[in-house]
Amino acid sequence: MQWEVLQKQLRGIINPMQSADIRRKYIGYFQKQGHTEIPSAPIVPLNDPTTLFTSSGMQPLVPYLLGQKHPAGTRLVDSQKSFRSQDIDEVGDNRHTTFFEMLGNWSLGDYFKKEQLTWIFGFLVTELKLDPKRLYVSVFEGNDSVPKDTESIGIWKTLFEGVGIKAEVGARIFTYPAKKNWWSRSGEPEKMPPGEPGGPDSEVFFDFGAELGLHEKSAYKHDVCHPNCDCGRFMEIANSVFMQYQKMPDGTLKELSQKNVDFGGGLERMCAAVADNPDVFRTDLFAPIMTLLETFSGMEYGKNPKETQAMRVIADHLKAAAFMINEGLFPGNKQQGYVLRRLIRRAVVKMHQLGGNGSKSELGMSVYRQVGVIYNGVYFDAESPEFLDKGQILKEEITRFEKVLNVGLVQLGKHETITGTVAFDLLQSYGFPWELTYELALEKGQEVDREEFQKEFRKHQELSRTAAAGMFKGGLADHSEATTNLHTAHHLLLASLQKLVDPSIKQRGSNITAERLRIDVSFARKFTPEELTNVTEYVNAAIGKNLPVTRVEMPKEHAEKIGAQMEFGTKYPDRVSVYFVGLREGTNPEAVTRDDYFSAEFCGGPHVSFTGALGHFTILKEEASSAGVRRIYAKLT
Ligand code: ALA
Repeated sequence: MQWEVLQKQLRGIINPMQSADIRRKYIGYFQKQGHTEIPSAPIVPLNDPTTLFTSSGMQPLVPYLLGQKHPAGTRLVDSQKSFRSQDIDEVGDNRHTTFFEMLGNWSLGDYFKKEQLTWIFGFLVTELKLDPKRLYVSVFEGNDSVPKDTESIGIWKTLFEGVGIKAEVGARIFTYPAKKNWWSRSGEPEKMPPGEPGGPDSEVFFDFGAELGLHEKSAYKHDVCHPNCDCGRFMEIANSVFMQYQKMPDGTLKELSQKNVDFGGGLERMCAAVADNPDVFRTDLFAPIMTLLETFSGMEYGKNPKETQAMRVIADHLKAAAFMINEGLFPGNKQQGYVLRRLIRRAVVKMHQLGGNGSKSELGMSVYRQVGVIYNGVYFDAESPEFLDKGQILKEEITRFEKVLNVGLVQLGKHETITGTVAFDLLQSYGFPWELTYELALEKGQEVDREEFQKEFRKHQELSRTAAAGMFKGGLADHSEATTNLHTAHHLLLASLQKLVDPSIKQRGSNITAERLRIDVSFARKFTPEELTNVTEYVNAAIGKNLPVTRVEMPKEHAEKIGAQMEFGTKYPDRVSVYFVGLREGTNPEAVTRDDYFSAEFCGGPHVSFTGALGHFTILKEEASSAGVRRIYAKLT
């Protein structure tokens, strides 16, 4: 169908103002409470090399939550573009999306629980006009180190009573453990890496009605349905995090110097609640795309589960792709580009499953333009040549993949059983997204060797993680498994020498072959046998702990400040790549101290992902190299 005709048709059925209205109301409401509006940060983060994408409103604000002064003050509000690649497999139900907008407000050591809960309740009830009888809330039930949040319980009781609703714990207010009512970027307190801020939270759920409960699907199917049961009846629409703790290197939680509030609420979900329709794909942020897909396929959205699921995946993934492309990303094989390519390929496979005779690249382009219209004036200028030109990137990627998909499908059809190896070959030769190869094969009635498939799948995931970390760049003679392992052991050895023998030891040279590593270090005398034994044990203990190895890019100055090791005499650029051993993902590099990692070195890699892969470490010999420099040989078995 012609683009212009479709636009005309859509104007009659979509109310384009709903989401824009809610976004504006939210910002305005918090501005009235003294908040300054800040612009959305890009979804490809500028100053946080630990993560590929901005996945929540607080992410660009971590330094300020930890105590740094924000130029806009202590009360902030925004609508943040967010992308959660970890939710990619959840997309297809009524409420999960990879891309979403998070409405957020923050107190940076300013107001706390009473103001936050009062304001957010006020916003939902008076501004969005949600019926308070349909709102349910949850608070943290407490654990060994953090008490039950009785203060929030008291505040919620008063708020509900203020609108004539008796609010009992267990009926209107629910308490849950850390798994549900604690928020940090890495989840519960045990999962938080040193330096990470977090705290108990209080969520608000909207009740879409008992008839929607699909309780059999719930994680809590043996309990009576309740707000956190994921059965489809309740939807979380608001989350106030009381961010007042920081994880310490010894595993304890310390009170931050300031008590913060970090609020996040999904705009798409708030729209769904206002419309009293639990399907976020029916809100004006998606509905026009669904109409496009209906036109393309001749299928009705919402009629059959399979087509509905396919339409949701296409709409979500191409929307996310449109945002990424407009932030300057290109589909590629590494890091963010790899995620972008995966989104587009998954969308194309779903277009194939959906059927329809039209060209997939044309459809992709129409969806892209529709995304432009939905966010016109907010994030895009939908008719600008720049926006339209960028759409070509998507179109070309779809065209390229469509061709190989067709050839690959013929190949797929030739096998009776789809083994992990076949699926892997399809991925290698035709770029088939894994998990979808499996789906395509089952649809065609082919057999799938599930166990072997999973094994290969994990192997591939490991590979793509390595690729995503951009690891295979270093200056080693070869990148075989053996040299990679020894390279990581080299880092462990240097850190152990500094820790156990002398902190002023510096690397003076190195040489790694597939058989052994050699390190030259500044040290005036022979190492004693006892020192070498202790160092060996220390390295083996680090291997036994299976510490993660993480690559972080940062300014050279900052890397020096946090104590990252560099090779003597080497000239480094202004931005350097630092490999950490024992620094868990999600740690804010701004806040790293020497106690937060086992080892940190300026380095191009490659390295293993976890030290557990190294095996047993042995020092072979120690000798003089030159004046004031000792040479150590070591191996792994
Ligand atoms: N940062 C909190 C979240 O993402 C508000 O849910």
